[in-house]
Amino acid sequence: MVLKDLFFNTESTEIFVNREDINNFLNQAEAAQRVLSTHQGAGHDFLGWESLPSDIEDWTLQRIQNDVQRLSTRCEVFVVIGIGGSYLGARAVIEALQSELSHLIPHGGHPLVLYAGHTLDEDYYAQLLSVLDSHDYGVAVISKSGTTTEPAVAFRIIKHHLEQKYGKDEAQQRIIAITDAHKGALHTIAEQEHYTSYVIPDNVGGRFSVLTPVGLLPIAMAGYNITKLIEGARHAQHIYRNSPAGGNAALQYAAYRNALYNKGFKVEMLTNFTPALRYFSEWWKQLYGESEGKEGKGILPHSLSFTTDLHSMGQYMQEGERHIMETVISIAKGKQHVGIPMDNQNLDGINYLVTKSLTEINHCAEQGTIEAHRDGGVPVMRIELPILNEYTLGQLIYFCEYACGISGYMLGVNPFNQPGVEAYKKNMFRLLGKE
Ligand code: PA5
Repeated sequence: MVLKDLFFNTESTEIFVNREDINNFLNQAEAAQRVLSTHQGAGHDFLGWESLPSDIEDWTLQRIQNDVQRLSTRCEVFVVIGIGGSYLGARAVIEALQSELSHLIPHGGHPLVLYAGHTLDEDYYAQLLSVLDSHDYGVAVISKSGTTTEPAVAFRIIKHHLEQKYGKDEAQQRIIAITDAHKGALHTIAEQEHYTSYVIPDNVGGRFSVLTPVGLLPIAMAGYNITKLIEGARHAQHIYRNSPAGGNAALQYAAYRNALYNKGFKVEMLTNFTPALRYFSEWWKQLYGESEGKEGKGILPHSLSFTTDLHSMGQYMQEGERHIMETVISIAKGKQHVGIPMDNQNLDGINYLVTKSLTEINHCAEQGTIEAHRDGGVPVMRIELPILNEYTLGQLIYFCEYACGISGYMLGVNPFNQPGVEAYKKNMFRLLGKE
């Protein structure tokens, strides 16, 4: 079968859940779809993400491209300041598409994207400032609330550096603010300093915002095609919002993970055989962890990157406590080819591999791992993509978001709030003596 679209494969889960159970959960997923589409569920004020792909207008994409063009000719580095949903989506897509060696490989004249505001580590900022001393750069500061401490601290430091380096007027040209339309400290600063600004829609929460300028501007700045990303998401939107469970991979994913959770599989391990997906896993963890982990409920989202982590966590996956379900993101085709050379001496004994591509070898590792985990008591779901590009990532993002909304409703929580995130902030502010 030639794979064109995302495909959800449940072959290696069938021995863990019976048909009757699955049909029951598929019916529940369809019921949750009705609640979502009629905006009757908890958190219905935050459903703007559902129609983002079809709502986004060409002029917004064009405006982003114009800013990218204006800045990419002046910047070797572009710093994206944000935390959680205000940076993970952009990083997930950029790192999925670029090489891990991107700092050494020029990417068509586009700046190298670096990150800030996602940590308070002092050494990180010292190192970042020393990089910024010697490179031309620009900044996007992204915060929906406009009041989050980590990006506010980072922006204060970097804005000061930028103004010292270029003067106030030129610095102003190099800053883009992405925030709320009306409120928050960042909104006030952006207005006062006349920064180029983009709005995060009121009805889109941080972790669902990658298909707004929050994700699109950094992704375009890194040189990737946001029109194709949106096209992929639009295609997924059309299928997942309109199809019943039989032809709907997102409903199936939500149904299977809830059926397995109900059978005691409390941890979901998202795995891949493509290290470029590491930050996609981080984005997915936030999406599901923050959406479902509440009221004493929720599947614990975790992730591993294989085959690397088979040599560290492989033992636990195979024989540790049997509370793990696994979801593999499987990529059918690589984009480039590297052959294994023949060696007449064959001292390493791997001449039998020379007729195979690395992708074929990696697929054998993947299939072998899935079979081993299944036989060891881990139900394995597989999300299959034909190739990793902007279009398929757009599909995958929307698939994960839609399944997350459905799954949260099936679990009986409001998937669109995050009341628990405030607890550490209160303590931190008390310890810092904030008035
Ligand atoms: O998903 C969320 O809502 C959070 O992860 C936020 O994105 C994160 O806390 C950052 O918030 P803000 O964009 O308001 O700075």
